[in-house]
Amino acid sequence: MSMLAILGAGGHGKVVADCAELQGWETVHFYDDAWPDRVTTEHWPIQGDGRHLIRNLRHYGGVFVAIGDNRRRCSWLQALAAQGAPIVSLIHPAAMVSRYAELGTGTLAVAGCIVNAFARCGEGGIINTGATVGHDCLLGQGVHVAPGANLAGQVVVGAHTWIGIGAKVIQCVTIGKEVFIGAGATVIGSVRDGETVVGTPARPLRDTSDANGGELPPTLAASAT
Ligand SMILES: CC(C)(COP(=O)(O)OP(=O)(O)OC[C@H]1O[C@@H](n2cnc3c(N)ncnc32)[C@H](O)[C@@H]1OP(=O)(O)O)[C@@H](O)C(=O)NCCC(=O)NCCS
Repeated sequence: MSMLAILGAGGHGKVVADCAELQGWETVHFYDDAWPDRVTTEHWPIQGDGRHLIRNLRHYGGVFVAIGDNRRRCSWLQALAAQGAPIVSLIHPAAMVSRYAELGTGTLAVAGCIVNAFARCGEGGIINTGATVGHDCLLGQGVHVAPGANLAGQVVVGAHTWIGIGAKVIQCVTIGKEVFIGAGATVIGSVRDGETVVGTPARPLRDTSDANGGELPPTLAASAT
């Protein structure tokens, strides 16, 4: 394979680049809107910001958006697709994705994750290290299942929702869009759009759709670039 462009040169971007190389991409270039200040990728050159990427699209056989913020990631995916970018999905060789599962365009499946039969994940999803997505789950666009989180079968998750690290969700539960499930939470019932829930069993902490204008909570914002 030829050259892959990755938008987003933070820690998540490094995981994406590593995964891409294992999938056979020979050359990886980064772009980041913090360019030229961002200097975090010792192994891969940063070529410019998002506008430069749009100008350079013709050079790339694949484009991937590695922005941690779920909504920003989806916005960029849509903007790049509208410019004709060849958006790809990346599946780490040590990820187990059922042949009967569907991953939307621009999705990342990291090492050790399992996506079971007939699960469907919308575009721009992240199934992070060691996370599991049970059979017949339905994930909207831009959902992030953080490392070690487990969704049982037939769970429905709305767009841009963040399932926190190590969280558990029992079968057949519906989680709304723009939700934050706290680290280690155990979700045993439905969660409304925009809510943040924590604990075992998970209880509402706040409703981000009103109180926070939909912005990331501070502890997530730090890891979302
Ligand atoms: C739920 C979460 C989004 C809330 O973040 P926040 O809005 O910055 O919340 P704060 O840190 O201000 O905490 C607010 C309160 O909730 C509690 N709390 C926060 N996260 C909690 C969690 N996961 N479980 C239980 N309680 C939690 C805090 O102890 C605090 O309680 P207090 O008011 O009694 O002191 C965040 O704590 C979290 O769990 N993020 C998941 C991170 C993750 O998955 N990272 C993976 C990166 S790949």
